[in-house]
Formats: sequence, C-alpha cells, structure tokens
Amino acid sequence: MKNKLYFKLKNKKVQEAAFSAILEEQKHIGYYALPEQDISPILTYAKSIPDDIENVAVIGIGGSSLGAKAVYEFIKPTKKLKRKLYFFESTDPLNITTLLSKLNLQKTHFLVISKSGTTIETFSIYKYIYSLQNNPDVYTFITDPHSPLEKYANEIGASILYLPENVGGRFSVLSTVGLVPLALSGIDIQALLDGADTLKKSFFGAGYMKDTLLKKAVYYARHHGQYRINCIFAYSETLKYFCEWYVQLWGESLGKKQRHSAFNVGLTPIGLIGPKDQHSFLQLIMEGTRNKSVTFIKIEDFQDEILIPDISLPHLGSLDSLNNLPFSKLINMQCDSVIEALLEEDIPLDSISISKVNEGNIGALMYYYELLTSLVGELIDVNTYDQPGVEAGKQILKKKLSSILG
Ligand code: PA5
Repeated sequence: MKNKLYFKLKNKKVQEAAFSAILEEQKHIGYYALPEQDISPILTYAKSIPDDIENVAVIGIGGSSLGAKAVYEFIKPTKKLKRKLYFFESTDPLNITTLLSKLNLQKTHFLVISKSGTTIETFSIYKYIYSLQNNPDVYTFITDPHSPLEKYANEIGASILYLPENVGGRFSVLSTVGLVPLALSGIDIQALLDGADTLKKSFFGAGYMKDTLLKKAVYYARHHGQYRINCIFAYSETLKYFCEWYVQLWGESLGKKQRHSAFNVGLTPIGLIGPKDQHSFLQLIMEGTRNKSVTFIKIEDFQDEILIPDISLPHLGSLDSLNNLPFSKLINMQCDSVIEALLEEDIPLDSISISKVNEGNIGALMYYYELLTSLVGELIDVNTYDQPGVEAGKQILKKKLSSILG
C-alpha cells in the first residue's frame, strides 16, 4: 500500500508526542495486538460448521457487523467463496423480510454478535428469527465474557465465542467479531491479519508508515477547525462498505467533548465512490465551502481487463478515443484527473494506492485507518474509544418501550 501526501507539514515535536502516546496506549487498548493473534481456535471452530451450511447470517449492528461486511464485499467479486454472508443490521421490517426470503433456514448458520449483549436492534431481530428457527445448534453467539448474552447462550446450550479484552466494537474487525464470519465464508483471515501486521510493523518499527501516518494525523488535527470534513473518495465499487465502516470508525471515535476542555469537537467523515460521485458530491468539494480534505483510494490492478470495444457510434465520433481502453485504466485515469483538478484548487488531499483486491491489502487499509483514528483522537484530545453520545437516545427508547408495557 502506498500513500502519497500532497500537503507538507513539519511539526516533528507534535508528531513524536503523538507517537509516544500511542506507544503507551497500546499497552491497554486491545485492538493494537490483534494482527499477531493465533487464529487456530477460530479455524477449528470454522471446521465444526457442517459443509452443507451454505449461508451465514450475521445478526449485529455498528462495530459488530460493519467490519466483516466491508471485507466480505471487497473480496467477493474476485474470489469464489465457500458460503454467502448476509447481514441483519436493521429493524426495517422490509429489510428483515427480504433478507429472510433469500435464506433456506435449514442451510443457514446464525452468528449473533454483540459485545454488550443487550443491543435492541440485534435482539429484536434475533427474537424474530428464533421464533422461526429455534434449534440452538444453528446459532453461535459472540460477546464479552460475563455479558447477559453469554448467560443466555449457556442457558440454551448454543456455542459461544468471546471478544478479546479491551477491544471496542468499531475496532473489532480483526477480532472474533470480524474473523469468524469471514472465516466461515472462506476468506483467508491469516492473510487479512498479515496485511495488518505489515502495516503495524511499518508504523511501530519506524518504517514508511510511521512518518506518513504521523504527518497526516497532525495535519488533520492542526486544521480540524478549517478542514473539518474528511472525505474518502474510493475509485472502486468494492470499497463501498469499507466507506461505511470508515464513517462509523471516524465519526463515533472523534466526535466528542474534549478530555481537558469544555469544547465539543469532531471531524466529519464522508464516504464517496468514484466515478459515480464525480457526478454529485464533487461539485461541493470543488466550489463549496473550503472545509473538506479528500483521500483518494485507487486499485492499481483490478485483475480484470475487459475493454471498451472498438466501435464507432454514429454522431458520437468524439467518444472514439475510448475505444480499446481497459475499464481498469479508464477508472484510474478518472481518479487522476480529479486529483489534478482538486490540486489546482488547493484542496488538501492525499492518495492511497492498493496493488490489487486481496485480503492482505484490505487488512492493511483497515489497520491504517484504525491507527490514524487513534492518532487523531489523541491529538484533538478526545477519548477515542467511548461513545457516551449514543446513550441518550437509547435511554429514551427504553422508557418509551416500558411505557408501552404499562
Ligand atoms: O463501536 C461501537 O462500540 C458501537 O458501534 C457498537 O459496535 C454497536 O453499538 C453495537 O454494540 P454491541 O456490539 O454491544 O451490540
């Protein structure tokens, strides 16, 4: 993975202070150690799921589903997978009914994933599915030790797997939360972790990623008053759900009250897909308020060489320059052209190039964004790992629900 920064920043002292803080933090925040974990228990578990199970349905929300979905949707177009994954994330009844209509319940294994073990969305959906399929053998529960869900799973005699210590939901893609569904689908989870580990070693071992990530984090933090919206502009449909994962990671981690002041701060994530969003959001970046930075993500080799055919269309001769061009080349030329246009407007930007679509590259990209989030959180002085702001709405819903019961 290459990352070219088009902005300059020196502040060595601030960079080193952020690096020291992260070195300290990794002693107690669990996600940092995930790339080196031993995955043999997960692989043993995956082998225990019968071969005639064709579908795996994840019931979970937020950090309990977005990471696995991002990796699965990235890899799916280029790899023949063993099983399909489905994600029940919403209380939208149409979505639940539509997803269920695609599943043969006799050939489906359900993964109920909830760190807290009490999330309303997850358990309303689980109750519904359990009313249709109550065989405990087709359920596996992934949760924190001692959660109410662990007790429930024991009660019904279903399998339980645990999250490692101190791994927050949105930082959990490389733990059981993401690895179990991905392993069941046939994705190479060791390669995913190896990709993350290479990135980790480059950052902590004073490699290329240390300098790059520190510069980028300090730039975001220093300019968060002006460039408060951080767009990812990914030139591949395979990265659509990666963008959703990024929006959750960035938004829920960085929108906070500062630890040592009375101020509320935050950086706003936007996920865009090229070339589609060249015909929509790009106008706002080019000529709208100058409050956005952009990170372009490109795939160098799509491993698909379909060409635009050598056909001249009557009255449309001006489009003949497209003839014989591979789509993979066209999409990257589109990306480069937008980069050039934005540079002329002095919009702060950087570009990330991924060599191809594989597990190692998405593992590296996700770990890169986790490190970047931790660094920016440290530099803007927030607690990156909590989410007190989402509690108020939950408490009001609980009151409303108990008033229905009377
Ligand atoms: O990142 C987070 O902590 C949240 O988005 C959670 O993942 C989400 O609220 C789901 O929580 P739980 O896994 O406890 O059901």
